[in-house]
Amino acid sequence: MQSFIQIDSPLYLRAEQLSSPANWAALFGNDNPLVLEIGAGTGDFVAKTAADHPGRNFIAIDYYNKGCFKTCRRLEKLGLTNVRVLREEARQFLTERISPGSLAAVHINCPDPWPKKRHRKRRLVNKEFLEFLLPYLAPGCDFYFATDFDDYGIDVGEFMPQVTGMTNVLAPDLFRFDLEEYHLSRYMEKFMAQGKSIHYIHYQKVTSCPPI
Ligand SMILES: C[S@@+](CC[C@H](N)C(=O)[O-])C[C@H]1O[C@@H](n2cnc3c(N)ncnc32)[C@H](O)[C@@H]1O
Repeated sequence: MQSFIQIDSPLYLRAEQLSSPANWAALFGNDNPLVLEIGAGTGDFVAKTAADHPGRNFIAIDYYNKGCFKTCRRLEKLGLTNVRVLREEARQFLTERISPGSLAAVHINCPDPWPKKRHRKRRLVNKEFLEFLLPYLAPGCDFYFATDFDDYGIDVGEFMPQVTGMTNVLAPDLFRFDLEEYHLSRYMEKFMAQGKSIHYIHYQKVTSCPPI
């Protein structure tokens, strides 16, 4: 069994020490737009993306302790101050720490594919998850999903048009195999090196959709 790593980084937050919802403007020291990466892994994507957008605040969550440790180390090496890292489960974190209508962007890159048919109900991203996520998104919020697993990409591409209140930025395509200026995560790099394609999905919350 892997031993638990104590994370002492100033970028690492313990959710139980935060208010519900958390006061992110106070935690970052500014009220810049808030971006959430769910399942940030070892932080490759959030580090590159946060470096590109110093005027945005990034929250990187993953329930993988070693991943959070590596993400913090990477961010500190780069001197990035606009990211906070938490070892949290996505649904619980959103429910407890995020104010409705407050997220400017959400990224989910290469979530666990659960390739066996009988395990597919364990996938993080499905229509129910999007409907759960929607109230936390600000009007115009970007939702990005990327997967190396064909069946997952096709599935998300097909159900997304049925999610009320979201519009497809890539229309008429349900997904694309590349997304300009979108950084590669560790898993994307790994799978592309094996010759696999990445399915990208990009939606936006419709500004005029009624409050939930
Ligand atoms: C296959 S890895 C991909 C990591 C990274 N996004 C990448 O592309 O390199 C999926 C990650 O999502 C995390 N994860 C899966 N379900 C999660 C959930 N419900 N809440 C938070 N993290 C989750 C896992 O711990 C794992 O680190």
